[in-house]
Formats: sequence, C-alpha cells, structure tokens
Amino acid sequence: MESLALYIHWPFCLAKCPYCDFNSHVRDTIPQTRIAAALRTELASEAARIGPRRLTSIFFGGGTPSLLDPDNVARLIADATRLFTPDDTIEITLEANPTSIEAGRFAAYAAAGINRVSIGVQSFDETALKFLGREHSAAQAAAAIDLARRTFPRLSFDLIYARPNQTLPAWRAELATALSLAADHLSLYQLTIEPGTRFATQHARGDFALPNDDLAAALYDATAETAATFGLAQYEISNYAVPGGESRHNLAYWRYQDYAGIGPGAHGRLTLGGHRLATSRHRAPEAWAALVESTGTGATTEHVVGPTDQAREALLMGLRLSEGISFATFTARTGRSLLASIDPITLTAALEEAYLIQTPTHLIATPEGRKRLDALLPELVL
Ligand SMILES: C[S@@+](CC[C@H](N)C(=O)[O-])C[C@H]1O[C@@H](n2cnc3c(N)ncnc32)[C@H](O)[C@@H]1O
Ligand code: SF4
Repeated sequence: MESLALYIHWPFCLAKCPYCDFNSHVRDTIPQTRIAAALRTELASEAARIGPRRLTSIFFGGGTPSLLDPDNVARLIADATRLFTPDDTIEITLEANPTSIEAGRFAAYAAAGINRVSIGVQSFDETALKFLGREHSAAQAAAAIDLARRTFPRLSFDLIYARPNQTLPAWRAELATALSLAADHLSLYQLTIEPGTRFATQHARGDFALPNDDLAAALYDATAETAATFGLAQYEISNYAVPGGESRHNLAYWRYQDYAGIGPGAHGRLTLGGHRLATSRHRAPEAWAALVESTGTGATTEHVVGPTDQAREALLMGLRLSEGISFATFTARTGRSLLASIDPITLTAALEEAYLIQTPTHLIATPEGRKRLDALLPELVL
C-alpha cells in the first residue's frame, strides 16, 4: 500500500511574530470548535477520495497548534488512524510554543497520541527573544524542553540564528546551550526577511542589518560543526538529528513522497489516478471553514504537476538532503530518469565545481552546492 504523510494546519497564534510569513492569524476569541469540526470534515472528505494508504506520519503545524485543545487533537488523530492504516512506527508531531500555559498541556497531548513535539524556542538570549517578538523567556523555553523530554518519546526545537549583531562566539555559546538540552532533533534556521512582514518594513527602513554574507556563511558552517560534536548530524540544510532521529514527516516532503494537507492554506502533493496533483486550500480561516461547511472541502485550485515541474520540485526538495536524491526513487515517482531531466552541461559544470556529486545511486549536493541551490536549480532543470 502506498504511504501517506498527513499535515494538519492550525492557523491561530497569540501574537504575530515580526519575522513570520506563515499562514497565522490573531483573534480576540479563537473559533476553536468551528475550526476543529471543519478540520475533521475536510480530513474525512480528503480520505474518501485518496482511498487506502499506509499512514506514516501526522504533523500538526501552524500557527500555534498547541492552542488546539487536546480533545480536538485526540479526535483528529482517531479519525486519521481510522480512515488510513497507521504504520506501527507512525510519527505524530505537534508544534508547540514554550509558554507555561501550553507546556501545561503536554501530558494531555501525549495521552491524545502525540509522540513528538517541536518547540519554537528561537533563542536562549533574552534580548534576541524580545527582538523576535516572542512571548516567552529563555527560562520558560528550558523548562518546556525539560518537561517535553519527560513527556514525549521524541523532541525537537527550533532556533533562529544569523540575527542582527550576532557574533560567531556568541552563536557558538548559545548553540552549545541548545545542544546540551537537545534530545534527538534540532531545526536551526538562518533569519530570513520575508516580504510583507514587520521585519521587511523595518529592515528596508534601516532599523537593523543582517550579518554580511561572509559572517552568515561562517555562522552556518559553525552550526554544522558544533552540532556534530554533540552527535547531531546535519541531514538537511536546516535540520540536525541523531541517527534515526530524523523527522519522518519532513523526510516525506524532501523525498517527494505523497502528503495530504488539511486546513487553511495547507498544500498537498498526491498521486491519484496516475497523476501527481498539487492541492491547496483557502488561506483565511473563516472563509476556509465556510467552504468546508458548504462543500466538505476548503480546496481552492488543484492542478496536475507536469513532468518538468515534478523534476524541478523533486530536485528542489531532494538536493536539500545530505543523502541527496535517489535515481531509483526519482524514476519511481516521476516515471522519468533523473539524468534525462537535467541539463548535461550544467551538470558537468556543477560536478567539476564540486557543487554536486554523482554516485551510482544518488545525485548529492555538497555543502558548498547546498549553499548555492537557489542559483543552481533553475539552470539544472531542462
Ligand atoms: C510555523 S513556525 C513554528 C510554530 C510555532 N508557532 C512557533 O513559532 O514556535 C516554524 C518555524 O519556522 C521558523 N521561522 C519562521 N519564520 C522564519 C524566518 N523568517 N526566518 C527564519 N526562521 C523562521 C521558526 O523557527 C519557527 O519556529
Ligand atoms: S513564528 Fe510561530 S508563533 Fe510566531 S507568528 Fe509564526 S507561527 Fe505564530
């Protein structure tokens, strides 16, 4: 039976962080019951058309899914594991913010079936937490990590680095603190300025500057080096894990496997009726809910991903991984050979520059190549 990863989007947060362009909304009163009911309806109608699948992961992302009541999380997990066939090793992750209120619900989430949490710590430096507009302190973050370690079998947390005025020694020290608290997984993101965010306006106005390219590259290299000394290997550009601790859900994206996306703004990639479909949903929570209530789904556009776009997407995802992209998997997924889908002249040049490595089974981006993926990919895909 073909595998499926399931993403469920919870679109609300207590406040909007100035760097964030995720589909997250702030409300005086969150319409919890309505949105949770609509998520269940949309899940049921999506499952009906997808048919039987082996469910390898569920990921509650956001927004801030730790604002979703544990009872509703339990209902959604029960639905998903009834509608599909759960793997024995199914990974069920919930993104959580480290405020004390949300950490207080960890036991109830574990009882609901969550077996992995991903905590948005962002920094252990109080000034940085203020700059990032976070609602928690470093001490609260450490307490949430400690509680999560005792409550869930698996745990990840996120940090944002390459922040304004961040020095290499300061980041090494902050990262060492993080690594001393880490369990099996960490996500370490470089701060990016996303269009339309408060940071985009402030950055354009000159309120702050990001580290220059040399310092950003040094911070990135130091991140992988330091993580390795604590036994966490870089398996994707921004993700680090002990062996076996990789996020199965995110691996499904990067390996270009099928995933269903439920909830406002969620995307999916599904192989149905011999086609690879790109699914998307209405972004505004209330408009999405109204659509689900009247039609059973909040789907907006849906289109078939053609062979060239499949190659582009599979390369974009696969070359982010340290393992690279498997020729066999690529052919099984797209029906085409990988080498026939890429420009031979660009490939030869990228191999000579040591941005890419070709083995009998895989095409792999080297660490230098991974830094240049955005420039390399448009040239590479035919
Ligand atoms: C959907 S958010 C996390 C969910 C949760 N609401 C939180 O904030 O903790 C996923 C992660 O993406 C990262 N992120 C979001 N916007 C970013 C940006 N502009 N630059 C770098 N990392 C970013 C943050 O580390 C964040 O925790
Ligand atoms: S970073 Fe997390 S808490 Fe902040 S606005 Fe984005 S989704 Fe919400």
